[in-house]
Amino acid sequence: MTFRAQHLLGIEKLAPDEITTCLDLADRYAEDNRKGRAHRDVLEGLTQINMFFEASTRTQASFEIAGKRLGADVMNMAMQSSSVKKGETLIDTALTLNAMRPDLLVVRHPNSGAVDLLAQKVTCAVLNAGDGRHEHPTQALLDALTIRREKGRLHRLSIAICGDIAHSRVARSNILLLGKMENRVRLVGPPTLLPSGVQDFGVEVFHDMREGLRDVDVVMMLRLQRERMDGGFIPSEREYFHRYGLDAEKLACARDDAIVMHPGPMNRGVEIDGTIADDINRSVIQEQVEMGVAVRMAAMDLLARNLRARRGAEAAGVMV
Ligand code: NCD
Repeated sequence: MTFRAQHLLGIEKLAPDEITTCLDLADRYAEDNRKGRAHRDVLEGLTQINMFFEASTRTQASFEIAGKRLGADVMNMAMQSSSVKKGETLIDTALTLNAMRPDLLVVRHPNSGAVDLLAQKVTCAVLNAGDGRHEHPTQALLDALTIRREKGRLHRLSIAICGDIAHSRVARSNILLLGKMENRVRLVGPPTLLPSGVQDFGVEVFHDMREGLRDVDVVMMLRLQRERMDGGFIPSEREYFHRYGLDAEKLACARDDAIVMHPGPMNRGVEIDGTIADDINRSVIQEQVEMGVAVRMAAMDLLARNLRARRGAEAAGVMV
């Protein structure tokens, strides 16, 4: 197995063989989860702390379930009521937690780069559960696993990522991962919602949804991230749905067997028509949630192996 990383901070730092290792292991966990087969010995004796400085439903829940299925002691820090509210800095909070000797720290933070900074200050393995607009590596891995299971491969596919790309860490991590695995990535959205420097991403850019979806294998929709907007990025939600919302008519431009994805939470009637989201023949949104648990089990398993190996080597070094 090839997985050298000490932390999972982003897709940017992962090599294709590390991505494949993680997906292969996650695939096995997905099958065992379906059979109800537990693996409580994998993280036995390890402590996992979840620190979410930003709201989350599925990511936090799935990290918690993943840790518990592997036998870790899981603690959720209530960041709303923690000392952060009293003005303690992120670094001080991290050092305090580090002194309690956790093994896995799962962090979501509204600022891009905050999780990397924190990882430099602690001795355990850190997993980025989303930092600002920067990265959301486990989301990209679970999306990749879903695609690979649905399409039977994860290379030479044509994938359209649509909507609010500028504010999306999900888009950024997916662009990196899908590019590393040699797929053709298209970004589809209004010019105001595309990030600056998009021409350097190695992707094709479309402002017309029907053109952008032409013959793609995968349609990945993104939430309109209102909380990260400070002005008029779109004329109105109605107009946005008319031009960029996924409905049956626009989806008809994609391949007949194209799958529809969305990381959640969804704004029905804004970026996606509710009937498309619920269409079990096209939408794999529930499978994405299911794969989320398996991918987080795999990521924590691989990081814990490296952590144990590192600690073992350190202990041996001390004794010599
Ligand atoms: C995403 C996130 O928080 O970045 N959601 C998620 O993790 N499932 C996408 C979003 O909030 O739109």
